[in-house]
Amino acid sequence: MKTLILFSTRDGQTREIAAYLSSELKELGVDSELVNLNRTQDIEWEQYDRVVVGASIRYGHFHSAVDRFVKKHAAQMQALPSAFFSVNLVARKPEKRSPQTNNYTRKFLLASPWQPDACAVFAGALRYPRYRWYDRFMIRLIMKMTGGETDTRKEVVYTDWQQVAHFAREIAHIPRK
Ligand SMILES: Cc1cc2nc3c(=O)[nH]c(=O)nc-3n(C[C@H](O)[C@H](O)[C@H](O)COP(=O)(O)O)c2cc1C
Repeated sequence: MKTLILFSTRDGQTREIAAYLSSELKELGVDSELVNLNRTQDIEWEQYDRVVVGASIRYGHFHSAVDRFVKKHAAQMQALPSAFFSVNLVARKPEKRSPQTNNYTRKFLLASPWQPDACAVFAGALRYPRYRWYDRFMIRLIMKMTGGETDTRKEVVYTDWQQVAHFAREIAHIPRK
């Protein structure tokens, strides 16, 4: 049996966090499998004894596939020890990095038929050179308004890897149901 780690990413940061989580879980003696939520069709739930979902925010929303997935599989997910993490840039500010203070995460949990046993919010990455001009323009505008990095030559990773490692320990200790 292993832990299923599903991730929904646009630019790869959520995949990196999921992979880091997986390696930290391995250190704790927990095997896991990484699956791209946006590409998966059917899940063989009997293979897993725990499930983790991680998803990033773009223009205020998680990918619509996340909501669809959670609605479709809520019963199976609820039956297992489970965890959710969200990835966004608002969370670069420590006071916006908890499920209660991060609006995207709070709203997700309020609306979700699946209620995870553990939840975390991670700061993502800002990678100006990789964005298309419109996205670069928009993100820069948002950064300017919120006092963030505006130099479009920069790539900044705000993720606190210690926080991810801590979340791995929390996941490993969720009691069986
Ligand atoms: C086009 C675009 C829109 C974004 N919109 C938001 C947003 O509305 N709020 C936010 O906090 N972060 C926003 N972000 C930041 C992303 O959540 C952050 O870059 C994250 O690391 C992306 O994760 P991913 O690479 O797994 O998709 C946006 C990023 C991009 C490129």
